[in-house]
Amino acid sequence: MRILVTGGAGFIGSNYVHQLLADGDDERVVNLDLLTYAGNLANLEAVADDGRYRFVRGDIRDRELVRGLLTDERIDAVVHFAAESHVDRSVEGPEVFVSTNVLGTEILLEEARGAGVGRFVMVSTDEVYGSLGETGLFTEQTPLAPNSPYAASKAAADLLCRAFHHTFDFPVLVTRCSNNYGPYQFPEKLIPLMIANALEDKPLPVYGDGLNVRDWLYVGDHCRAVDRVLRAGRPGGIYNVGGCNEMKNLELVEIIVDRLGKSRDLITFVEDRPGHDRRYAIDAELIMSELDWAPTVDFASGIDHTVQWYLDNRAWWETIRSGAYRDYYDQMYGDGGRHDAGPAT
Ligand code: NAD
Ligand code: TYD
Repeated sequence: MRILVTGGAGFIGSNYVHQLLADGDDERVVNLDLLTYAGNLANLEAVADDGRYRFVRGDIRDRELVRGLLTDERIDAVVHFAAESHVDRSVEGPEVFVSTNVLGTEILLEEARGAGVGRFVMVSTDEVYGSLGETGLFTEQTPLAPNSPYAASKAAADLLCRAFHHTFDFPVLVTRCSNNYGPYQFPEKLIPLMIANALEDKPLPVYGDGLNVRDWLYVGDHCRAVDRVLRAGRPGGIYNVGGCNEMKNLELVEIIVDRLGKSRDLITFVEDRPGHDRRYAIDAELIMSELDWAPTVDFASGIDHTVQWYLDNRAWWETIRSGAYRDYYDQMYGDGGRHDAGPAT
């Protein structure tokens, strides 16, 4: 299959590119990524010279570029990860979320449809459902009630996918996954932030009372779910993906601190996030029964592996935290730099 992955230099996208190239011999993987602050080619160093892989620095909102890529590369399927993804940033500045997540998705959908692409997987999120109380689970029938600007922009994109299927019979598939963790997660998100701060003996900022609940899934399991949906999902289908692994933030931070042998005194309660969703929990029965998917990594081994990865790859996150990786891309890909790392084959 010839696959266009958008946002493949980010956390989940890069894990997916690695998985695709490790699992399949006859894949062609084109990675279209703008390299915003969250995109990092260091995540893909190991596959950079793989003949089946091409990186293109570019914007999903660049219609001409998208059209050219879909045609020149004879793309069969799009797997769409590219997004602004951080809730806190969406509280500070929602506009880029609407532009990238909504308009970007619309342009991709329109161009993919025009190019006759056979499958379009939209990587949506469980945050489109809003917040749960003490009990209950999100199912695919739960009404959408996004609370943050991030979640609202993802819900708009998710619904555009629905509309493209309903109106044009375009073969869109949507995944709505819970919180991911694992290697290459940008250190502004809860788990890598806490690991990095703890290793530097810095305060660990827990929002509010720390009792908000998230359902954590190892990133490799999410990638396998996306791939199952790509290859075997029902066009127009929506699939929840989750880890059956609910945890309070405070509990999770304590686990990380303990694993690192650091003092729990580093934990610092800070002002709550505005509009902070209380609880997410996923009913993933549909993808389990229909596509025979299930999480394979239990939380204890997943978090051990993740903590170890951040210990072993200290230079990766220190370079990000110092901002040095951005200077490199400005040099490589700024005006006069190298814009595209490989021709169509
Ligand atoms: P991320 O922020 O780590 O990566 C996003 C990537 O998209 C980056 O490489 C960035 O450079 C790229 N990008 C941003 N704007 C772009 C544009 N205009 N054109 C091209 N590329 C652009 O995000 P992530 O955590 O890997 O999430 C990937 C997707 O999965 C997102 O759509 C997110 O909404 C969804 N998701 C994430 C989680 C999670 O827990 N992280 C859970 C469910 C769903
Ligand atoms: P995050 O990783 O930002 O994911 P999301 O908001 O998309 O679920 O945050 C996960 C949870 O951790 C969320 O309840 C907010 C909380 N949190 C903190 O308590 N402190 C922090 O510094 C961060 C980044 C998040």
